Amino acid sequence: MQMLEEGLEKGKQQGIRVKALILINPQNPLGDIYSPHLLQECLGFASRHSLHVILDEIYMLSVLDWDFTSVLSFHHLPDPSRTHFIWGLSKDFGMNGMRVGLLYTENKHVLNAITRLAFFHQCSGPTQYMIYQLLRDRDWLDNVFFPTNKKRLREAQKKLLSGLEELTVPVLHRCTGIYVWADFRKFLTSQTSEAEIELWKRFIAEKLYITPGKAFQCCEPGWFRLTTSLPDDMLQACLEKLKKVLQ
Ligand SMILES: Cc1ncc(COP(=O)(O)O)c(C=O)c1O
Repeated sequence: MQMLEEGLEKGKQQGIRVKALILINPQNPLGDIYSPHLLQECLGFASRHSLHVILDEIYMLSVLDWDFTSVLSFHHLPDPSRTHFIWGLSKDFGMNGMRVGLLYTENKHVLNAITRLAFFHQCSGPTQYMIYQLLRDRDWLDNVFFPTNKKRLREAQKKLLSGLEELTVPVLHRCTGIYVWADFRKFLTSQTSEAEIELWKRFIAEKLYITPGKAFQCCEPGWFRLTTSLPDDMLQACLEKLKKVLQ
């Protein structure tokens, strides 16, 4: 909390009017999850300073083997009218092409403003109907879709982790099943951002798109984020390309 208090204070001294705290849980890009205690502390901090809190839980149903607490499960919120929840189909359903997201808020002003904006960004009728059919089938979602999705994510993650281990690439293994961070520092020609980009271009030349840490403001050159949510044959092909570049 001290960091948040200090950040807020620093912002005030620079004349910045801070209005909201955005929490991404599970976090992007690391994949960490907020404990219920930490979440409550953040909500308490925001409430003390009359800040809105926007909770982006877009990865919430893709957490593997860790306890995840959604803000939606809290019976008591310090400031319900300033607490807003967002989620979408892009990650947990792998349906980013549908362009569907949702907001839950008890704040009528926010709802009014968003409703007006949403008028210009409406989902088509057929899209809404399809999503409605998908989300109302709770039995299929709970007993078929999510268990299968998690099983596949777990298998893909295991395969990627063991492939990276074979290539002696250390990893930072966090809780979302969607990506892992891999440490390619020892493969850089020098410990600089330029060398990271050089390595990235070598991956690209092999048609292997993995994201360099620099794209996420990572301060140590050589870290890359790899997406694990791929079918087995594509994952295998990626590992072979990685091997070719790193040899
Ligand atoms: C944390 C987070 N929230 C929201 C989004 C938005 O997803 P989309 O615009 O595909 O719905 C993304 C996409 O990368 C994300 O990582």
